[in-house]
Amino acid sequence: MNTPELGLPMPVPAAGLPTHVRIHEVGARDGLQNEKATVPTAVKAEFIRRLAGTGLTTIEATSFVHPKWVPQLADAEDLYPQISDLPVSLPVLVPNERGLDRALALGARRVAVFASATESFAKANLNRTVDESLAMFEPVVSRAKGEGDVHVRGYLSMCFGDPWEGPVPVPQVVRVCRALLDMGCDELSLGDTIGVATPGHVTALLAALTEAGVPVSALGVHFHDTYGQALANTLAALQQGVSTVDASAGGLGGCPFAKSATGNLATEDLVWMLRGLGIDTGVDLGRLVATSVWMAAHLGRPSPSRTVRALSHQES
Ligand code: HMG
Ligand code: MG
Repeated sequence: MNTPELGLPMPVPAAGLPTHVRIHEVGARDGLQNEKATVPTAVKAEFIRRLAGTGLTTIEATSFVHPKWVPQLADAEDLYPQISDLPVSLPVLVPNERGLDRALALGARRVAVFASATESFAKANLNRTVDESLAMFEPVVSRAKGEGDVHVRGYLSMCFGDPWEGPVPVPQVVRVCRALLDMGCDELSLGDTIGVATPGHVTALLAALTEAGVPVSALGVHFHDTYGQALANTLAALQQGVSTVDASAGGLGGCPFAKSATGNLATEDLVWMLRGLGIDTGVDLGRLVATSVWMAAHLGRPSPSRTVRALSHQES
């Protein structure tokens, strides 16, 4: 057994898990889109720089959506050029061709479309039915792949439960996943937008997707932590072979169009668990905690992450 370092768990590997996990950091987008007060552009840029300095390799930067829908991210044109020199992947959300044009004009090389498994959320988030939103994404994906092979992620929200419709049937989720993949998305992220999933449900959905021919290597998971299940759900996904996990520094986050959404799985809590399992992420936990403490000071409230709280108390 390896010796534990101060402020880090003892690494004790468990069988049947991936050796490396890529963390898709969403704090600057999913986190800051949900803040009541808009964070100044310079603070966002500094946040992303600090995140890049922790060893994170994929940092979702912002969204090129309608500025009236998400005013918190209306500064995307100002922000992106301030960070585009960073040696990390900087995906951005684009709902339609207008968003793609804006992103490509700034040199973005990774974009994400975002679908819903339910009609209610498709309407609330995109002003479209599920099929109308898939039709909106189709030219986005084909142009992104055609014009210089831009990497496209397809988010799928409400994969487990929906605040208007309740539990979401697995086949309904599988249908939209298949449509996104068939359209040409390079990877999918399965969103538990309101945090109601539990581990058995995660295992069942991943099994159904495998059955439907969706390769697990193309799947990431995106858990919100409303009921404290995000880490347990992540472990269930890792056991099924998933090795891309979305998380948000300090547990920032939510969705302004789904009232019961709270913060994402905190990146620090994820790194703590993965480190304990002996799984490599390349992330320096101490630097990450320091970044979230710094951001929490800007936001004027402590981070909800248990790991941030434990390690920042330990340091003081
Ligand atoms: P709409 O009102 O139906 O727009 O909104 P439209 O297509 O009818 O266009 C109306 C006007 O908006 C036009 O201008 C367009 O040019 C303009 P006009 O011709 O009238 O002058 N417009 C735009 N302007 C700038 N950028 C654009 C853009 N698109 C149209 N991209 C729309 C449809 C999709 C635009 C809107 O619903 C929207 O922006 N939605 C974004 C919602 C959002 O960002 N939600 C949060 C992200 S999703 C999430 O958080 C979940 C996730 O984390 C996973 C999980 O947890 O489940 C990813
Ligand atoms: Mg989300």
